[in-house]
Amino acid sequence: MKRRELLSWLTASPMLASLPLLAQDDLLYRTLESVTDLDPRLPRNLSALSGVFELEKLAEAVLPSAHFGYIYSAAGNGESKQANRDAYDKFDIQPRRLQGIESIDTSVEIFGERWNSPLFLCPTNGHKAFYPLGEVASAQGASAAGVTQILSSLSNTAVEQVNQVKSDKPVWFQLYPSNDEEIRYEVVRRAEDAGCQVIVVTVDDIGGRGSEIAAPFTNLDDRDCTLCHQRELGMQSFVERKPMFASYRNIPGFNISDENINFDDIRRLRDQVKGKLVVKGIMHPDDALGCLDAGADGILVSNHGGRIDSGGLGTLDALPRIANAVQGRMTLFLDGGVRRGTDVYKALAMGADAVGFGRPYLWGLAAFGAEGVTRCVQLLEAELHRTMVQAGVSSIEELTSETLLP
Ligand code: FNR
Ligand code: LAC
Repeated sequence: MKRRELLSWLTASPMLASLPLLAQDDLLYRTLESVTDLDPRLPRNLSALSGVFELEKLAEAVLPSAHFGYIYSAAGNGESKQANRDAYDKFDIQPRRLQGIESIDTSVEIFGERWNSPLFLCPTNGHKAFYPLGEVASAQGASAAGVTQILSSLSNTAVEQVNQVKSDKPVWFQLYPSNDEEIRYEVVRRAEDAGCQVIVVTVDDIGGRGSEIAAPFTNLDDRDCTLCHQRELGMQSFVERKPMFASYRNIPGFNISDENINFDDIRRLRDQVKGKLVVKGIMHPDDALGCLDAGADGILVSNHGGRIDSGGLGTLDALPRIANAVQGRMTLFLDGGVRRGTDVYKALAMGADAVGFGRPYLWGLAAFGAEGVTRCVQLLEAELHRTMVQAGVSSIEELTSETLLP
């Protein structure tokens, strides 16, 4: 068996998916220590980190260009990705003084469980493209940080193995609602059998996406990508190293997404899911109400990090109308462009019950492995704490839009 075929077999095998990619590591991963031309203004160790944007620069230094570009990528000209960040500049936090704050409580209650912090890790696929141990490392990092991790159904590591390394609680499982309804429910049952109590179904990955943003990074990359990727990138190649879907890859016409998905699909999925059901990718109040009517327990206000549509609406822009329509009848999660504690504060003040992020923890994973994921969460938590003190707000319950100025 040729080396490439052996590696393809190994990396597709669910049994071995928790092992680092063999031999390719030298092609795929560099350690920070091996980077000789690192910007001297950047920290080289975790304790010296002062913000998540430093992690982005460190990730770019250690990752192959095409893989860094995959994280960086966005649809169109990045309009929606940029809108996610710009939205946070539209609102200011009102500082308060002499409030005699004795303690800060950043805890929230989500689905009957007390979380120490309102942060969660968004589902992102294929962590072995960023670090040898992939989702085993990101799960260890999430556990050490004590935050909820939503595992992508396009993980390089089977959900069973990820939950084995989660020392605190099982991951939530993000479902790509494939175009075969029976497969959809098989994957849900597998995740629930592995201990997942919340299913997060992603409904925004429809219509395809452009790749003009990622292309320059890919073109800059001089490695032989066919060591891992078949030349004709397509659904079969895309899922061959994704244990949750690999076994379906030879089904003619199989696709991880269903272009025609509608509220009836959510209603039927609700009947299949034993635990809580969250719908990810909602940006309109009427869609939120449709999910409520279909029986969803929560929605994740998200535009996929600007990687799908390029219409230019940021998630924080969409949140107020959705929160006003839902009126507390569903749990509201939000993600997109969250990079600072002040962003977390503003999203909570405008109606989110919990706030997630994607790219930042991948940067942390690439630069420092599990510890980088943990440190990323800690940086944002420390910034949120500081922001609450300066706003004179001692608990998340007190954190309302009254503390913001437009
Ligand atoms: C994602 N996202 C995503 N979402 C999802 O439902 N399933 C997935 O497999 C992935 N994969 C993925 C890979 C990468 C590299 C990125 C950057 C994002 C979207 C993700 O869950 C989340 O919505 C955004 O990442 C949030 O925006 P920020 O924090 O990355 O700006
Ligand atoms: C992405 C898809 C896989 O954002 O969710 O890359």
